[in-house]
Amino acid sequence: MARVYNFSAGPACLPEPVLKKAASELVEYPNAGMSVMEMSHRSKAFEAIINKAEALLRELMRIPANYQVLFLQGGASLQFSMIPMNLFSKSKKADFVHTGEWTKKAIPESKRYGAVNILASSEDKKHSYIPRLDKSTFTPDADFFYICSNNTIEGTRYPVYPDTGSVPLVADMSSHILSEVMDVSKFGVIFAGAQKNIGPAGVTVVIIRDNLVGKALDITPTMMNYATHVKDKSLFNTPPTYSIYMAMLVFEWLKDLGGIPAMEGINKTKANLLYDFLDASAMFKSPVPREFRSLMNIPFVSGNEELDKKFIAEAGKQGLVQLSGHRSVGGMRASIYNSMPVEGVQKLVDFMKKYEMENK
Ligand SMILES: Cc1ncc(COP(=O)(O)O)c(C=O)c1O
Repeated sequence: MARVYNFSAGPACLPEPVLKKAASELVEYPNAGMSVMEMSHRSKAFEAIINKAEALLRELMRIPANYQVLFLQGGASLQFSMIPMNLFSKSKKADFVHTGEWTKKAIPESKRYGAVNILASSEDKKHSYIPRLDKSTFTPDADFFYICSNNTIEGTRYPVYPDTGSVPLVADMSSHILSEVMDVSKFGVIFAGAQKNIGPAGVTVVIIRDNLVGKALDITPTMMNYATHVKDKSLFNTPPTYSIYMAMLVFEWLKDLGGIPAMEGINKTKANLLYDFLDASAMFKSPVPREFRSLMNIPFVSGNEELDKKFIAEAGKQGLVQLSGHRSVGGMRASIYNSMPVEGVQKLVDFMKKYEMENK
């Protein structure tokens, strides 16, 4: 069977050259005589891999020197607990913007350890937009301000990030890290599960400003304290070695392609192809207003459940797979992460045009 175009929201498609390189090194990593999977995490060979992964990520995202880069486990979901346990260090207050399923899951975890203020919510319109924020309503002494910068399920992304002044801005960037140029210095913490734009599942990247490390609540387990992992450079215990190696290959691929500015251009081309079609179509629609549209996750509906079902089934036969919307929202969703080539999106749009013609 030929490779399909996989529009999964995650784990998602990986760049084919990366998979091929990994395959060529699978059994014997150069000069190691063994697979990366078999290597000690304390070996020189693995140390070189994790150091290179960090150096490439720092270069790609222009991460300032006063930020730490951590490769952790537990998924992005564990960060929902690690953030409050490590950041509730003074007032034990936090501001949250509620924009969808992933903030819905994060909010109760912070509530266990401090006072959570839901500053704004988009729940009134099924999270199809990002609420406008009024700076005068922000909690001035909050320990952190939390956002999900790209909402994977609802397909929204912040057009501009809130200016939180001296309050650290925390962003769950799981579904769009590395997709466009971002100014890391505007954030206190950025975190992202790997399985969309970084590599296979199993590793979570955390980028954290130095001054936020070392102030965890006393009850914080050792493994959930950022200070533990900063001190031991993500090698306190056995890290997900193979996922980190794959992330390193993805970072290399992205650098060779021209880095994030080049990737952003390609991502905009892909997203415009699909959004322009949706805006012109009489059958398919995007539920998200233009200014809040994600470049990575594009939900769409036909307004008719039968037509949606048939569309997903027929698309699958054309090698366009994983197009069902999230179980909570239905319809369709195309996740077009960095690894999805322009041709994949073009093929999807061509198929949508044909489907619309044939099902008028
Ligand atoms: C924005 C966002 N946050 C958090 C998560 C949860 O990630 P994990 O499954 O790695 O815990 C996801 C997963 O899809 C996500 O899209």
